[in-house]
Amino acid sequence: MKKFKLSKRLQKLPPYLFAEIDRQKKELKEKGIDFIDLSIGDPDILAPQSVVRGLYNCAKIKENQKYSLDQGKESLRRAIKNWFYERFNVNLDEDKEILPLIGSKEGLVHFPLAFVNNNEYIIIPNPSYPGYRGAAIFSGAKIYELPLFKKNHFLPELDKIPLSIRNKAKIIYINYPNNPTTVVAPFDFLENLVKFCTKYGIILVYDNAYSEIYFEEKPHSVLEVDGAREIAIEFHSFSKTFCMTGFRIGWAAGNQNLIKGLLKVKTNIDSGIFGAIQDAATLALEKEKKYVENLRKVFKERRDVFIEGLHNKGFNDAIAQATFYVWVKLPPKIRSSIEFVKKLMQEKRIIATAGIGFGKYGEGFVRFALTVEVEVLKKALLIL
Ligand SMILES: Cc1ncc(COP(=O)(O)O)c(C=O)c1O
Repeated sequence: MKKFKLSKRLQKLPPYLFAEIDRQKKELKEKGIDFIDLSIGDPDILAPQSVVRGLYNCAKIKENQKYSLDQGKESLRRAIKNWFYERFNVNLDEDKEILPLIGSKEGLVHFPLAFVNNNEYIIIPNPSYPGYRGAAIFSGAKIYELPLFKKNHFLPELDKIPLSIRNKAKIIYINYPNNPTTVVAPFDFLENLVKFCTKYGIILVYDNAYSEIYFEEKPHSVLEVDGAREIAIEFHSFSKTFCMTGFRIGWAAGNQNLIKGLLKVKTNIDSGIFGAIQDAATLALEKEKKYVENLRKVFKERRDVFIEGLHNKGFNDAIAQATFYVWVKLPPKIRSSIEFVKKLMQEKRIIATAGIGFGKYGEGFVRFALTVEVEVLKKALLIL
């Protein structure tokens, strides 16, 4: 059989972190070995009942069984507008500043295709959600890695980006509440970020997928900052807020030219989001405020139990400010996060994610996802 060579573009992509973890889990399952999975950010909690019912009922509507508008239904865009206004006090134009997506990942990864030419620079944080690297490689961009250090509370030092990069970078990806480090960005950081992007003409792609999974201070939208709507596009997700990961729906909001560019890419790639999913998502935004409040309570309890348990096991340096992850600094005697998680899987049957999987500055850390019930977390802590 002829062996077709992957494109240079695809050869550059590292194996997708969670695909690799999935492969390892499958191997354990095939051998009939039980394990506790604290690796991937897929909540174990059911989506709201009303949303599931809505999906079922709306799937029966003929219009929903046809191609849907690329721009998304007006009813959904209006629900997003209202939600955004209530949550962030930002009044968006639902026709020009909001675009529903097939999950935020879809938009985050397609976005540079609209604005970046070969060999132009995209700045991505390190460690970070792996999607940004893929996005940069697909668009033919060069990557500048922006380290996130614990000593800076995992906020990037924008003034350390060399002038030569600032002047030619097209896009910067920023994500708070942050995966994997869990931290929330203070408002003055967002103000500086907007100033920085405005000064150097860099598009700000702000990933706010975890905006509703917080325990103390409420995360902001970058669109609250004066001037942000000139240079920023922000991404939101139904996956984390309403545990709708499998539904595949999210949205982008922000500068109208940036939204228009992304829409042009999408029009040429997909043909809209299943109408019933859009209707279900509309229901979630309009009717399920209590659900999200309760979700925060559930994750807070898990977080508190897990952090205390980690302390008792000698992992004193664990952070879980927001999101449903815990980012744990490994003791200095543990040299490699990959070796640590391998051992954890082989000896304790617990699956976690090695920090280095999120980029080289993630080395020395491990990420646990609190996507199992408290009882299971307690069991994990006993054997850890
Ligand atoms: C930081 C971040 N952004 C975006 C996503 C993508 O979410 P979705 O495509 O399900 O909306 C994830 C998923 O884990 C994430 O962690």
